Amino acid sequence: MRFVKARDYDDMSRKAANVISAQVIYKPECVLGLATGSTPVGAYKCLVEWYRKGDLDFSGVTSVNLDEYRGLQHDNPQSYYYFMNDHLFSHVNIDPANTHVPDGTIADADEACRQYDETVKSTGGVDLQLLGMGHNGHIGFNEPDDVFAKGTHCVNLAQSTIDANSRFFASRDEVPTQAYTMGIQTIMSAKKILVVVSGTDKADIVEKAFFGPITPQVPASILQLHPEVTVVGDEAAFAKIADRI
Ligand code: F6R
Repeated sequence: MRFVKARDYDDMSRKAANVISAQVIYKPECVLGLATGSTPVGAYKCLVEWYRKGDLDFSGVTSVNLDEYRGLQHDNPQSYYYFMNDHLFSHVNIDPANTHVPDGTIADADEACRQYDETVKSTGGVDLQLLGMGHNGHIGFNEPDDVFAKGTHCVNLAQSTIDANSRFFASRDEVPTQAYTMGIQTIMSAKKILVVVSGTDKADIVEKAFFGPITPQVPASILQLHPEVTVVGDEAAFAKIADRI
């Protein structure tokens, strides 16, 4: 596990975007695993800027996103489908047919998850998986559990996740309580993983996830077993591990 120290959120975003850019430059026909949430927004902004400058070409890229709220339509601004178009896809030359987000509009959860596993499989595998991390250590929407989930599955979101995500909705009652998420096994199958963390509120979980015991109660702790993980974090997020990295 490699730790890349950044000064602040903007520095972290640029460093993370550089890692993603390098992937696209080295392998223009790569598969990027992408995440939503507030942490990667700055990195997506950089990628859009660099594309506009002519430094990046997404025409050969395929993307698979980690997760989606169950029940939200694509035109709902809180859906992850909308988020990805808004922050990245509609601003770069990625082929929309090559962008994939679990389909939250499919009511049949088993069918939605089966279809998404097929989609991920059909890409031939993720070259670089971008991950944010929840305060309880969730990655994608793999919440603390007794086991590590394998493939795409439907989850009941933890109350702390619903609370954290309520900042994006008009009221807490509007926050969906379920989501479809890629499983841990799929995430761990990515060739390389890039984790982005920012802010004091992530300092505790950064220490637990990367220096604590490997347990499904802290889903991100499994990343300690992956051979190619880079964690880019700012000083605030690395505050509790600064003397160990
Ligand atoms: C979103 C996702 C989540 C977020 C996590 C952190 O696709 O996979 O695991 O990465 O909830 O969210 P932020 O970045 O908003 O703190």
